[in-house]
Amino acid sequence: MRSLAIVGSQWGDEGKGKITDLLGEKCKLVVRFQGGNNAGHTIIVGDKKIVLHLIPSGILHPECMSIVGHGVVFDPQAFVEELATITGSDVSITNKNLMISENCTVITSYNRLLDCTRESNGPIKIGTTGRGIGPAYEDKVSRKGIKLKDLLDIDILKAKLAHNFEEKEVLFNHLYKIEYPSVEEEAARLFELGKLVEPFLGDTFSYIDKAVRNNDNILYEGAQGVLLDIDYGTYPFVTSSNTSAGGLYTGAGLPGKQIEEVLGITKAYTTRVGEGPFPTELFNAIGDDIGRIGHEFGATTGRKRRCGWLDLPLLKYTVKSSNITSLALTKVDVLAGLDGLKVCYAYEYKGKTIDCAYPGIDLTQVKPLYKDIESFHDDFVSDELSSSLNAYIKLIEDTVEIPVGILAHGPERSQIKFRKDYY
Ligand code: IMP
Repeated sequence: MRSLAIVGSQWGDEGKGKITDLLGEKCKLVVRFQGGNNAGHTIIVGDKKIVLHLIPSGILHPECMSIVGHGVVFDPQAFVEELATITGSDVSITNKNLMISENCTVITSYNRLLDCTRESNGPIKIGTTGRGIGPAYEDKVSRKGIKLKDLLDIDILKAKLAHNFEEKEVLFNHLYKIEYPSVEEEAARLFELGKLVEPFLGDTFSYIDKAVRNNDNILYEGAQGVLLDIDYGTYPFVTSSNTSAGGLYTGAGLPGKQIEEVLGITKAYTTRVGEGPFPTELFNAIGDDIGRIGHEFGATTGRKRRCGWLDLPLLKYTVKSSNITSLALTKVDVLAGLDGLKVCYAYEYKGKTIDCAYPGIDLTQVKPLYKDIESFHDDFVSDELSSSLNAYIKLIEDTVEIPVGILAHGPERSQIKFRKDYY
């Protein structure tokens, strides 16, 4: 196999970073195609914990080229800070192992201001990460976005920012009544940052095209999860990009080639950060136990994640909507030893029983139907799994009709077991 995409099959935070890190070892290219520094991919290497937000997880492998595709919204300030942190952990980053599309849309100070102000003043609170992601994608779609290449010419930058800012100025002055930097100040700030990003800018499209023609191993690294997709997710409580596999065709550039494998990363239970419906959410001691044992706090914002049982109608839906071909089941160790395990196998919705969600379904109105699951007490010292854990895995595989190709029982590389060959 040559091309594999990793997507989150729930609401993000499924453990994509560590799987990408492991599979990236065998790849020439690791490519990010959507989102921005709202993502937080935690990777444990030995005694080091590395959290990547914008830089692809392939960066930890010296032979691998990490690519930020044009579908990513890029905050140059956040990038420069992340670069300093990662190089401080003895990882070398040069233009030989990192290339950023010059066509990425820039996240400006105005985007961040709008995001945070709407969250604190707006009629609907989404619970965003406050990184300016939504407003940056709005700029892109309204054809007023600033592209990374625009940062290299101060006159172009000023002209584009002035155009971009016309309507926002009215909002800042009259609706939100907040302070904001002038176009001159913002242009000067971005121009300076542009100089630091410039060495990494390139034509990522042609680079990927060449790698595809060379039959190189390529890994496409999705951020967030399908249930946060702007089209497939639990709208409006979603992020503003296509987090599903479809996003990579528009956000990376994959000239005429198919993805051979889409690996869906799935927690053995479900978590969500931010607002929005969550049918299997637990409001009891087991939910607290899962959160505590699983260290369920956001890698980007530190927020406590909401926890609940595995939701098979949602998983079945995300598998279909991203054409996921196998699953990596993560954090099975968190459920080991807990009694009273359950899984949601169907919903009662509008007088019917359904076993698969669909776009636009009102998840606040579904009644989850649960099956009891036999507890398992595996300590994962040997490779042999207990019959109850095997039965849980089989139930998942039978329901979604694809195999569990990877089983993770901890964050270390040694705690991730391959049941299928990927590269
Ligand atoms: P935004 O992407 O910052 O606009 O946030 C929109 C929604 O997506 C919020 O509910 C966030 O909590 C959620 N979100 C964004 N990025 C992540 C992530 O990496 N993991 C989990 N949730 C995320």
